[in-house]
Amino acid sequence: MSSHGPAIPMTARKSGPLKGTAHVPGDKSISHRSLILGALAVGETRISGLLEGQDVLDTAAAMRAFGADVVEEGGGHWRVHGVGIGGFSEPEDVIDYGNSGTGVRLVMGAMATTAITATFTGDASLRKRPMGRITDPLALFGTRAYGRAGGRLPMTLVGAADPVPVRYTLPMASAQVKSAVLLAGLNARGETVVIEPEATRDHTERMLTGFGAEISVEPLAEERVITLVGQPELRPQVIAVPRDPSSAAFPVCAALIVEGSDVLVPNIGLNPTRAGLYETLREMGADLTLENERVEGGEPVADLRARFSPDMQGIEVPPERAPSMIDEYPILSVVAANATGKTVMRGVKELRVKESDRIDAMARGLEACGVIIEEDEDTLIVHGMGAGGVPGGATAEARLDHRIAMSFMCCGMAAKKPVKIDDSGPIATSFPIFEPLMAGLGAQLVRSNS
Ligand code: S3P
Repeated sequence: MSSHGPAIPMTARKSGPLKGTAHVPGDKSISHRSLILGALAVGETRISGLLEGQDVLDTAAAMRAFGADVVEEGGGHWRVHGVGIGGFSEPEDVIDYGNSGTGVRLVMGAMATTAITATFTGDASLRKRPMGRITDPLALFGTRAYGRAGGRLPMTLVGAADPVPVRYTLPMASAQVKSAVLLAGLNARGETVVIEPEATRDHTERMLTGFGAEISVEPLAEERVITLVGQPELRPQVIAVPRDPSSAAFPVCAALIVEGSDVLVPNIGLNPTRAGLYETLREMGADLTLENERVEGGEPVADLRARFSPDMQGIEVPPERAPSMIDEYPILSVVAANATGKTVMRGVKELRVKESDRIDAMARGLEACGVIIEEDEDTLIVHGMGAGGVPGGATAEARLDHRIAMSFMCCGMAAKKPVKIDDSGPIATSFPIFEPLMAGLGAQLVRSNS
């Protein structure tokens, strides 16, 4: 879906205390991969806890368009009848991937080594995002791509009829690019090797192993070498999707900055390649505890408990931690604005090519709320104003970016004056229950122009 209809402005007022239990939705990364790998397996994959946000629904629609049978059974339960590796059929129409960079990039990889042609488009945000980072490695398999200037959507991919396996060193830390190459490698005879200079989220590797592919990961001193043997038969799986640490970040961080709060966020996936935010928050002095730590479905899981933390200090976030918290910098910058001292986030230039330029979106919105910001191409620095110290009283642009919208809503819950966003519609891409969930904890959110 390329548009969510008319803009829905939303205002957050000083709230709290936030109290209670927040059951956040399923993990977005694992949800996309469950549908795609289910579609590439032979037989029926059963999924529970699937994120039913628009991004993932667009992947369900894409898998149907490529010939898989995807059935929603209600309550987060889904069934996928896969067509097997190389079994995708040619979609009859353009695939509209809405807002989802992850969805479109993974699916481009998944179809790239089957001799079919598919055309992809998306919303105004997705049509600005670079696809060359995907089509460059896919070209090594023999896939051809015809897109707009700068490798932008709409774009047509002609899958390689006789794909050759590739050896590819990632030029940037991107799990999407890594995963697209691995998914393409599934239908290339021989070994496809991806070399990651920095570790990124490893759900694709873990899930491919679960589906029965032969895949090995060699962590060398400076890099990870991932080797996949092509043309396996993927066995269908029963998948319980853990809850999303990137969505949990919003109730957790809101609780840390809203006076008197105490919030429990259960069953959160804490794969180390995703958990950088929680390490950072603890270094800042957040009252954040992990309870009931366990392993479920091959992923580490815990219950998070966050309490109001009036004494958080700004820190230097180590740049090497960026891949493990890449989606969390917007909400971290809101926490940083409520801490004392400077928080320095370096090595974050990938934020500029997300659903929006997230450095610019956070910098402009926080400045409008009265926070002093410094930035350069690869850095964001937030000058903290102490607990409850952000003046607010401003409107921030959501820029078709769910995480920007939710970050400013959390900002408004702790600011002196209300904070408004011009459009809360994009929140539905990853966290469709954000508004009732936060309101249930005590947040004051209103859809309005006031
Ligand atoms: C994702 C990878 C990240 C992340 C995105 C989800 C994934 O993107 O920002 O929300 O599921 O692989 P990059 O791989 O471009 O860093």
